[in-house]
Amino acid sequence: MISKMMGLVLWDLLSVLLCAPVLLAACPARCECSEPALTVKCVSKDLQNIPTGIPGYTRNLFITGNHISRIGPESFKGLDNLTTLSLSNNGIRELESQAFSSLHSLLHLDLSSNQLTLIHPEAFVIPGGVLRELNLSGALLHHSSGTDLARSLRWGTLGELRGLDLSGNGLAHLPSCMFSHLPSLRRLRLANNSLVVLKNGTFSGLEWLEELDLTRNSFRTFQGESLGELEALPGAQLLLGQNPFTCSCSIGGFARWLNGSRGRVADAARLVCAFPAELQNTSLLETDELARACRAGQGADLALQTSYVFLGVVLGFVGVVFLFVLYLNRKGIKRWMFDTRDACREALEGYHYRMEIDSDPRLAQVSTTSDL
Ligand SMILES: *[C@@H]1O[C@H](CO)[C@@H](O)[C@H](O)[C@H]1NC(C)=O
Ligand SMILES: *[C@@H]1O[C@H](CO)[C@@H](O)[C@H](O)[C@H]1NC(C)=O
Ligand SMILES: *[C@@H]1O[C@H](CO)[C@@H](O)[C@H](O)[C@H]1NC(C)=O
Ligand SMILES: *[C@@H]1O[C@H](CO)[C@@H](O)[C@H](O)[C@H]1NC(C)=O
Ligand SMILES: *[C@@H]1O[C@H](CO)[C@@H](O)[C@H](O)[C@H]1NC(C)=O
Ligand SMILES: *[C@@H]1O[C@H](CO)[C@@H](O)[C@H](O)[C@H]1NC(C)=O
Repeated sequence: MISKMMGLVLWDLLSVLLCAPVLLAACPARCECSEPALTVKCVSKDLQNIPTGIPGYTRNLFITGNHISRIGPESFKGLDNLTTLSLSNNGIRELESQAFSSLHSLLHLDLSSNQLTLIHPEAFVIPGGVLRELNLSGALLHHSSGTDLARSLRWGTLGELRGLDLSGNGLAHLPSCMFSHLPSLRRLRLANNSLVVLKNGTFSGLEWLEELDLTRNSFRTFQGESLGELEALPGAQLLLGQNPFTCSCSIGGFARWLNGSRGRVADAARLVCAFPAELQNTSLLETDELARACRAGQGADLALQTSYVFLGVVLGFVGVVFLFVLYLNRKGIKRWMFDTRDACREALEGYHYRMEIDSDPRLAQVSTTSDL
């Protein structure tokens, strides 16, 4: 019995001695491992899959610039201590259900610059998850995946998320309540998308939001529901620059709001008109100038209307003159009409004659019988 136990202990010792150096040195092929820094990097190595055998000590894992098409639940098994995971620029197309579910300590997840088309609703489910930062900048292949993305944000365990980067995804609209399950969110980047309006409820649930970046979208103004959504975030610093603001008279409401919200709109002084051309680069805060331009614009409209009326009068006059000339020439015209009619009649009669010959049944019969 004792000798058997000794044998087991010896066997354990032996295996530890034999295997320990191998385990210590273990690093997946084409990756660089640094145990002191608790870091593993597999950068631009043409990997097709997440490598196996990533050491358990790893806290920071960078697998970037490869060709990895999918991430599944088996991809990161046994990496309980991982806090930072960068998967940027891998051409990833699919995030499967529970793709990160074994990463209980994960704080920062970077999925930027990928080509996601399939995002499972439970892709961001990590039981007991504590994720703080999620970077999905330029992560979608096509903006239509925005709906999948919105669903996965709602279904995920992202209650602790502080920063979300969704810039550069071509998003044209945001489903309402898209962020309502992210109660801790502080920073939301939506720059460089194609947003035109914000629907009522878009930002509902973001009580603690501190920064909202809406630069480089397609907003021509903020009014109605869109302005209401900005108002609903009283604690957030807003960035609204580089949108194609159209300085028609109706932008006055937004300009006044902006003037009163300089403290909240960090780039208020840099917001300028993009259209019309004559107001390009005019600051939205120069409301006097805007108002004057608006009046001038109405003047221009009036001028245009006047010119249409003038055109109508001229055309009418030309028409009357034409009819008058016809009237003066009515005799000549009558003669011309008779001449033409006679000429036509002669021509028609000749034609009629030929038609009769062609369609005479007797003549036709003669020709068919002669064929027989
Ligand atoms: C994870 O970290 C803890 C200490 O923070 C350590 O005791 C444990 O061994 C680590 N896990 C692995 C697999 O290295
Ligand atoms: C997200 O990733 C992009 C591209 O790698 C980077 O430029 C951006 O700064 C990141 N966002 C955050 C919030 O760190
Ligand atoms: C803006 O987003 C598009 C994708 O919609 C991307 O191709 C482009 O590089 C982004 N621009 C910047 C400056 O990030
Ligand atoms: C937006 O929705 C809220 C309720 O969620 C409602 O009270 C409010 O009147 C709506 N506003 C507009 C402009 O529809
Ligand atoms: C802009 O706001 C200031 C106060 O911050 C106010 O004195 C001024 O009249 C406002 N200008 C316009 C055009 O509303
Ligand atoms: C407005 O500013 C942009 C960039 O600063 C410049 O390219 C453009 O020529 C300016 N337009 C006018 C009308 O000043």
